[in-house]
Amino acid sequence: MKWREFLVTTNYANLEIVTAILLESFPQGFQIEEAENNVIIKIYTSPSYPLSCLKNLLRKRTSCLKNGSIFFEVKENFIEENDFVKEQTFFKPIKIGEKLLVKLSSKGYFGGKRIVIEMKPGIAFGTGTHPTTQGCLLALESLVKKGDRVLDVGTGSGILAIAAAKLGASKVWAIDSDELSVKVAGENIYLNQVAQKIFLKNISFEKFICPQVDILIANLTKEDIFRMLSRFKKIGKSFIFSGILTSSKKEFEEKLSREFNIIRLISREGWLTVVCRRKDELT
Ligand SMILES: C[S@@+](CC[C@H](N)C(=O)[O-])C[C@H]1O[C@@H](n2cnc3c(N)ncnc32)[C@H](O)[C@@H]1O
Repeated sequence: MKWREFLVTTNYANLEIVTAILLESFPQGFQIEEAENNVIIKIYTSPSYPLSCLKNLLRKRTSCLKNGSIFFEVKENFIEENDFVKEQTFFKPIKIGEKLLVKLSSKGYFGGKRIVIEMKPGIAFGTGTHPTTQGCLLALESLVKKGDRVLDVGTGSGILAIAAAKLGASKVWAIDSDELSVKVAGENIYLNQVAQKIFLKNISFEKFICPQVDILIANLTKEDIFRMLSRFKKIGKSFIFSGILTSSKKEFEEKLSREFNIIRLISREGWLTVVCRRKDELT
């Protein structure tokens, strides 16, 4: 299968604003690499997504900013999925918190006493390297209790749903609006032998008839979370929200403060993960 790879070059000063704009159209995420004095943001998307569309998006969104001159350049490549997968063979096992270890399925590694989450190399977001995924894993490690019911909104590679199941959740609903993500998540769920606990579905949150859960996880964008917040509140008791830039911390806290108690903030590489509980939920 062929993929379109966009390479968006910007400088460190503009990185936050450019990634915030890109996340709206590419919620599956992207890779960020250093390049001399600049940074390159690599986006993998369908071959039918035109380069002109991406250029227009960036031009339009940056032109209305007060400081106007946002530097960016955009190039594109077409790559085979297999080449992308080969690149990921450099991925090292990652220890998360006290209990978890994420590794590629192609790599042998003894996790010791840690709970091992195996991931197939692939394009879907969530091999455990992104700070927003890591923030959610850290939060899950201390939040999940035996028998909990969990909803993972935007499961990507399935990593958080798998972690929740392995940490003791009795039932996990994992949904994603992206078909490829659901395919990859299905493979990862099978690989980790947690299929009996996880209900996986290719559907958007907006259309999903949600169960009542103890923990709702949403590693999306700030805008998505704000838009879905009132419905989230009806479904969950505790929440893990991620995909929020640390610069939006105050705005996020203010938005949540009326109906939620924030119980933990995890900050990693410019990204924030927020653990909170509904105010009317006492335990
Ligand atoms: C940033 S990725 C997070 C993946 C994974 N949960 C993780 O933490 O690594 C966001 C995922 O949410 C999915 N998504 C975005 N909006 C959604 C919606 N409204 N309903 C369901 N899935 C959505 C995207 O397709 C993408 O796979």
